[in-house]
Amino acid sequence: MAFIDKHAVLERSPTLLLVSSLLVVTVGGIVEIAPLFWLENTIEEVEGVRPYSPLELKGRDIYIREGCYVCHSQMIRPMRDEVERYGHYSLAAESMYDHPFQWGSKRTGPDLARVGGRYSDAWHLDHLIDPQSVVPESIMPKYGFLLEAELDGDDIEALLSTHRLVGVPYTDEQIEVSYADMIAQADPDGDWDAVLERYPGAAVGNFDGQPALTEMDALIAYMQVLGTMVDFSTFTPDASR
Ligand code: HEC
Repeated sequence: MAFIDKHAVLERSPTLLLVSSLLVVTVGGIVEIAPLFWLENTIEEVEGVRPYSPLELKGRDIYIREGCYVCHSQMIRPMRDEVERYGHYSLAAESMYDHPFQWGSKRTGPDLARVGGRYSDAWHLDHLIDPQSVVPESIMPKYGFLLEAELDGDDIEALLSTHRLVGVPYTDEQIEVSYADMIAQADPDGDWDAVLERYPGAAVGNFDGQPALTEMDALIAYMQVLGTMVDFSTFTPDASR
């Protein structure tokens, strides 16, 4: 047991013990922290995830402004009850272009991470104007005033540029035509092909059913894209990470 006895030398000298402990912690720290400097990305890249269209991005701002996140989360946890109720659990990549992310921490209402495509635009319209008209026991507030609020798109280029600044890969072209795209996505006579080429899978249509472009259009366009970007019939998790 000669080797174990040597331990005593360390334990009887506070200075030596302190220096050795620091050495051990330093090596451990370097091993854990240093690789992060060489890793480009810790988020698995998943096919289909794209930046929000200008209209969806405006809708997202309205979602944040109105505090929808106070009652709604946007993160399906990988537990059976959640997956059965809401669909495939949320992937980190699905919120990689969310600044700030909307995972939320409170569910007074259901999780909205995959609400896109679950209801028609007309359902969302009725529900937002008067939730109790479609779900009588609902305690969700009414948001009919969004229908009267014309969508202010003057800041749309700045909005996309700001998102690019924090890492969302908007191209110069996407920023240049963002105002036109924002209007076109909700206009039945708009150039939907161009919008869809830049933002594949986006919902297009006159979301609120009236001629003016309103905040309601933007919010419904945002609702309809949530959780629809990844095709889970072909998705397989990358096991190498
Ligand atoms: C005070 C809490 C509260 C706030 C704030 C709130 N909601 Fe809700 N929401 C609920 C509740 C409760 C339900 C479930 C009953 C219902 O469908 O109305 C719900 C349901 C929903 C649904 C249907 C979800 C599903 O899967 O059936 C959508 C979509 C929705 N809310 C969107 C919004 C949006 C958008 C906002 C912000 C403009 C918002 N909610 C604000 C409480 C809230």
